[in-house]
Amino acid sequence: MARYAQIVGWGMYVPSGILTNDDLASMVDTSDDWIQARTGIVERRIAAPKETTATMAIRAAQDALRVANANPARLDLIIVATATPDYPFPATACLVQDALGATRAGAFDLSAGCTGFVYGLAVGSQMIISGAYDQVLVIGAETLSRIINWTDRNTCVLFGDGAGAVLLQASAVPGGVLSAVLGADGSGGDLLMLPAGGSRHPASAETVAQGLHYIYMNGREIFRFATRVTAKAARQALAEANVNFEDISLFISHQANGRIIQSAAKSLKLPPEKVFVNLDRYGNTSSASVPIALCEAIEQGRVKRGDHLVMVGFGAGLTWAAVVVRWGMPLPVPQPPRWIVAWRLVRYRWAAIRSYLRRLGWKILLAVMGLFVKDNGSD
Ligand code: ACO
Repeated sequence: MARYAQIVGWGMYVPSGILTNDDLASMVDTSDDWIQARTGIVERRIAAPKETTATMAIRAAQDALRVANANPARLDLIIVATATPDYPFPATACLVQDALGATRAGAFDLSAGCTGFVYGLAVGSQMIISGAYDQVLVIGAETLSRIINWTDRNTCVLFGDGAGAVLLQASAVPGGVLSAVLGADGSGGDLLMLPAGGSRHPASAETVAQGLHYIYMNGREIFRFATRVTAKAARQALAEANVNFEDISLFISHQANGRIIQSAAKSLKLPPEKVFVNLDRYGNTSSASVPIALCEAIEQGRVKRGDHLVMVGFGAGLTWAAVVVRWGMPLPVPQPPRWIVAWRLVRYRWAAIRSYLRRLGWKILLAVMGLFVKDNGSD
C-alpha cells in the first residue's frame, strides 16, 4: 500500500523580547526607513538570557505534538535544523528528545543554514514514505542573536530568534509532502559563514578578538543568489509534484528579505494573496522562518484541506530547497478536552524527572567506578 507523509501537527515559539528598528537606530548608524525599505523588517524577537535554541525548539515541538494529539514516546525520529545549536555536541535534537520523553526516537541536528528546515522536511518525509518510520518531528530553531555582531549594521538589522516545528506522520491518504528539491553550491560557502569555532579556526583569544565568532555575510551576493534560486527551486519542485503554477494556494518562502520574496512571487506570477510574509515582525529567523510562517498562515486561516503549499528555503552553504505539500488535515483542529491537556503536562514533568534520575544514575555510576579504580590502584 502506498504511504504518504502528512503534516499532522505544527507549532511555533518566539521569545517575548522585541527589538524594533528604532532600537537598532540607537545602537548603530541605521534608520527605520532604511531597514523597512531595503528589507521589509519592522521588528524582531530576541531570546532572553535563559532561552536557547533547545528551549525554544522544545516549546515549538510540544505545540506540534499538542495539535496532533501525539504521544512523544511514539516518535521515531527528531530532526533539529539549526545553525545555532546549544553546543557543537551533543546535538540539540538530543536535548529536545530528552525533554519530550521521546524514548524511542533517534535524534540529530541538520546543518544546511537557513535551508535546514526544508531539507529536514525532505529527509523526514522520505523516512516515512520509504516505510522506515511512522512519525518524524522536524524542527527549525535558532538563537541568532548570540552570533550577531551588534555593532555591524550590515547584519544586525536582519536577524531574529525563534523556533517552529511540524510533525510528519505516515498516512494512506494521498498527499502530504509530494516532492522535494535540494540544492547546494559550496563554492559560495564563504559568502555567508561563521568563520571561527570549528576545526579550521578553533576558538581562541585571537579569534574572539578578531570577531570571528559573529556572522559574516556578503549581503549583495547573497541577495543575487537568493533571487536566482528561489523561483527556480519552486518551479522544479512543482514539476516533480506534477502541480501547475495556477494550483499553488500559498507560497511560503524563507523570510530573509521582502524584496527577495517579491521577486520570486513575480517570477512565479503569484498574486500577493498567495504569498505569505511575516518577516516584518520576526526578521530572518534562519531555519525557523518557514515553519513559523506555516504556523501563522494556518492560524490566519490561509491553509485548507487540499491546498497546494510551496515552501522554499535558501541560505548558507550555499544551499537551497523547495517542497510541495498537498495539505491533508482538516482545519481548524478541535481543542482537546482539559484532561488531555493536564495529562500532557504530567507526561512532560515525568520526562524531566526521568531525565534527572538518569543523570543522577550516571553520576553515581561514575563515582562508584572512581572508588573502584582508586581501590585497585592502591593495591
Ligand atoms: N543601515 C543603513 N545603511 C546600511 C545598512 C543599514 N543597516 N546596512 C548597509 N547599509 C549601507 C551599506 O553600507 C551601503 O553603503 P555604501 O553604498 O556607502 O557602501 C548601502 O547601505 C547599500 O548597501 P547594499 O549592500 O547595496 O544594500 P542592499 O540594498 O543590497 O541591502 C541587504 C542590503 C539588506 C543586506 C541585502 O543585500 C540583503 O537582504 N541581502 C540578502 C541577505 C540575506 O538574505 N541573508 C540571509 C540569507 S541566508 C540566511 O538567512 C542566513
